[in-house]
Amino acid sequence: MTDAVLEAMNLTKRYPGTRKQRGKLALDHLNLTVNQGEIFGFLGPNGAGKTTTIRLILDLIRPTDGRVSVMGMDAHRNSTTIKRQVGNLPSEARLWDHMTGGQVVRYLCGLRPGCDYTYALTLAERLNLNLNLHVRNYSTGNKRKLGIVQALMHRPQLLILDEPTMGLDPLVSHTFNELLLEARDEGRTVFLSSHQLTEVEQVCDRVGILRDGKLQAVERITDLKRVFYRWVTIYTHSPLDPAEWSGLEGVTNAMLQPNGIRLCVSGALDPVIKLAARYPVDNVSVEEPTLEDIFLAFYGRVPND
Ligand SMILES: Nc1ncnc2c1ncn2[C@@H]1O[C@H](COP(=O)(O)OP(=O)(O)OP(=O)(O)O)[C@@H](O)[C@H]1O
Ligand SMILES: [Mg+2]
Repeated sequence: MTDAVLEAMNLTKRYPGTRKQRGKLALDHLNLTVNQGEIFGFLGPNGAGKTTTIRLILDLIRPTDGRVSVMGMDAHRNSTTIKRQVGNLPSEARLWDHMTGGQVVRYLCGLRPGCDYTYALTLAERLNLNLNLHVRNYSTGNKRKLGIVQALMHRPQLLILDEPTMGLDPLVSHTFNELLLEARDEGRTVFLSSHQLTEVEQVCDRVGILRDGKLQAVERITDLKRVFYRWVTIYTHSPLDPAEWSGLEGVTNAMLQPNGIRLCVSGALDPVIKLAARYPVDNVSVEEPTLEDIFLAFYGRVPND
């Protein structure tokens, strides 16, 4: 018995080309397992193959090679069952312009087994989405919110979300993250794509980096963070000796500044804080690394898009 909810095995997609141009290899032998109850971030720059992967998972396109298994079912043979059970947010959701948001929700809720209309309304309220407006009058962000409501409203065991926070303001993104964490706490699984590492580090358990159709890395966010450093600035008007700071455990760089010292610290901040306590400290700032920086340090290189 495996707890794999999503399994891609040598999944490959070459889009057909013309007689002059060879087809585009959009996905190159992807091997990936997403387990039950995790939030997996599928990251990569534009054109990396994220949407292609999602379309293959949902059997909207057929692979050139390899296969996908979704909740133990073959993505192609069982595509109808899978589509009914999965919550899906496409990168460009097509909705019905002439209907109100509320009508869309009611209609789709009727089609989905296990949909709880009251829960759908709660989702819309939490995302601050006015369901009385016609979809054609929705802003881009509001269309995205309606897409999120329809993906989540039947409490699917697996959520597949293509760039879900694109166009959402920070407050709504925060609420959206809470909804994902709630789904995970119920043992449900989330697979989401993004091209921004910083967008997903708050919520994902693991991330995979895709580039030019090839999976570059899969790591746990906590592991990535452990290897990394922070920039700490101690602000003081007292004169400091950089040698005293650079000798501290974990300090890899110490630079004097007009109003204090800036340190690169890996691991615990304790030695730095204890030394700082000997001086009159005006302020302390700690800059957390972005995931881009973490990957740079982790692999000595990084996708630079
Ligand atoms: N229908 C298609 N026919 C031919 N090539 C395609 C097709 N769809 C996508 N591609 C190409 O396949 C590659 C991967 O595209 P895909 O849309 O999967 O990337 P993505 O990672 O989702 O990018 P983005 O972040 O821009 O959404 C790109 O080079 C793209 O131009
Ligand atoms: Mg895409």
